[in-house]
This record gives sequence, C-alpha cells and structure tokens, in this order.
Amino acid sequence: MIIVIILNILNILNINECGEKEEDMKNITIISVFVSLILSTFATANEVNIFNARHYKADAELYGKFTAKTGIKVNLINGKSGALEKRIIEEGADSSADLYITADAGRCGAMDAKGTLQGGLSSAAIKSAVPKNFRTSKWVGIAKRARIIYYSPERVTGAELSGMTYEGLADPKWKGRLVIRKSSNIYNKSLVASLIKNNGKKATAAWAEGVVANMARAPKGNDRAQIMAVAAGEADIAVANTYYLALMLSGKKGSEQQEAAKKVKAFFPNQDGRGTHMNVSCAALVKGAPNKKNAIALVEYLLTPEAQEHFTNNTFEFPMINGVSPSPLVVNNLGLDFKQDMNTKLSSYGKNQAAAVEVMTAAGWK
Ligand SMILES: [Fe+2]
Repeated sequence: MIIVIILNILNILNINECGEKEEDMKNITIISVFVSLILSTFATANEVNIFNARHYKADAELYGKFTAKTGIKVNLINGKSGALEKRIIEEGADSSADLYITADAGRCGAMDAKGTLQGGLSSAAIKSAVPKNFRTSKWVGIAKRARIIYYSPERVTGAELSGMTYEGLADPKWKGRLVIRKSSNIYNKSLVASLIKNNGKKATAAWAEGVVANMARAPKGNDRAQIMAVAAGEADIAVANTYYLALMLSGKKGSEQQEAAKKVKAFFPNQDGRGTHMNVSCAALVKGAPNKKNAIALVEYLLTPEAQEHFTNNTFEFPMINGVSPSPLVVNNLGLDFKQDMNTKLSSYGKNQAAAVEVMTAAGWK
C-alpha cells in the first residue's frame, strides 16, 4: 500500500514537472491534501483482519464482543483453509491478513514452514494462558480438542480396550473392525505426525500398514460419519475428534445423528503412557500483518475466560485456559479427567506432516 501511495505522489510530482509554473501551488495543495488523507487513514484505522477458516456462527458474535470492548473493528474474511492459505501465500508481503484462524496445529505449522508467519505472539498474557506445547511465537492454540476412539459397548469388551493406545489400532485383533477417515484429512495427518515424533518414521510406517489392514471399509466421510458407522454396526471402533460426539448429541445435526451418538462410547487412548493426542484451533500471526498490535490484542482476548466460555459452549471444544469448564454435553459424555499428552509439541505436527503423508500413502491408506 505504501508503495502505491509513493507512486501516486510521484505521479503528481511528474505532472508538476511537466506542468505550467502557475500549476505548482495547486499541485502542492493536492499533494498535501492527499498526504493528510493518507495519514488520517493510518491514524484512524483501528481494525484487524482475520482470515477465518472456522465457520462457527458463534465466532462472529465473539468478535463483536471484542469490538465493543476495544473499539477495534474486526474484518472477517471467511473461506476454506486451502483457499485462504493460497491467498496469503500469493499476496505475500502485501497480504491484508493479520491473523489466520483455523482448526489444527498441522495447518498453522505448515503455514509457518512456508514462511508466511511472523513471531510476536509471545506476550506475558499469552504465555501464561497457553501451555508451551500448544503454541509457538507465530501461532497459538485458542481451543483444544482430542482425537480419540469411539466404540460400540455391545461389541467391544472392557478387556479389549484396557490399556488401549493409538499404537494398538494396528493390533490384528481389530481386523475388519476399525473405521477412520482418509489420509488426506488434516486431523489424521497430525495424529500420524505425532506418532512419528514419538515412535519414529519406520515404526509408524509399519503401524500404518496394520491400521489399513484393520479397516472395516475404505476410508470415507467426515469424523461424524465414522461415529455413525460404529452406531450402524459397520465397525466396532472409530477414530474421531471429541467435539463431534457432543455436537451430534446436541441435536444440531438432526435426530438420526443424535440417536447414533447415544450408541457409542468415548475412549481416551494412551492413558498409561504419554496421554491422549491433543490438537487445537489456532490463531497465526501473518507476516506483514498491517495491524499486528491489534492482532496480538485479539489473540489475548480470545484467551480470556469470557471468550473461552463462548468457544466451549458453542463449538464443544475444550478450553485452552484453566478455570473454564467445557460444555455440559462434553463433561457428561466425554469426561474431563483424562490425561492429555502435554509433552509432544504441536509444532511437530507441521514438521512431520510430509513424513506422515508418506507413510500413510505407502501403506495404501486411501
Ligand atoms: Fe472438525
């Protein structure tokens, strides 16, 4: 924008050079009006631009609250993550994006790897609110979710599940009994990236082959479709994120999904070891953000109890901060007292993403 302004001023000066002498004062006036207009624009622009891939209507309400509190106008540019990422990459230093808000640390990590983010999300408020495995200086987790196992209590025994881990999904005892979505899905990429981080690429490649061998069907559908498959008896266990069960139970996705959700139970893997695989919705600070200060202020606001309550009640995610309770639908049906994996840094999801895709593809994971 500054370049455009300078070019415009040069343009006027050019006209001046070629113009008559009596035109000089007029041109100087034009320039000064122009410059003061620009300056006033800069001085009064109190806004923040969010490239938003989360499509919760409730999020927009939350940004309204932020504006009411701070006077900072929030411009929401909604779109699918792929399209928004492409736009940020293409626009480069000229991008109007301040923050990129999306689901999954793997997406924020991949944008970091592409050089599209900048540091700055490291204020005391952010650091004290968010445990360090859930953030970097360039992106910060704003709400949590776990990727867990759902099972049929009729067809899966307690003994079978006892001590169950992600690693155990490759156990031949689950042959023909497991459903999980495609390898192109970001949640799976991040889960597999975390396994590579913990167990190495070679072991994870063998694991992926075991998982594919156990699949009840070729992967298809979203997370809720996996839960539906268990409810319908097509499979005995499914892998899906925590908030989807609460969403289905809420009735917001219709009575069929509500009834299906009642037929499955949630199981949190790796409780005897490193804890259950965690992920986040993340806010990333875009390189060249025109409103960096406001962007940081907005992230700090999203980590306040008011904003966190808003997230948990509307999206059924877990709060990022302590002292805020998840939605009663989550507390009552998923529980709270599970051990989270607090050691595996979520930045490893982006770093190991290519390797994760490689092992899944090699295993024939559709
Ligand atoms: Fe999701």
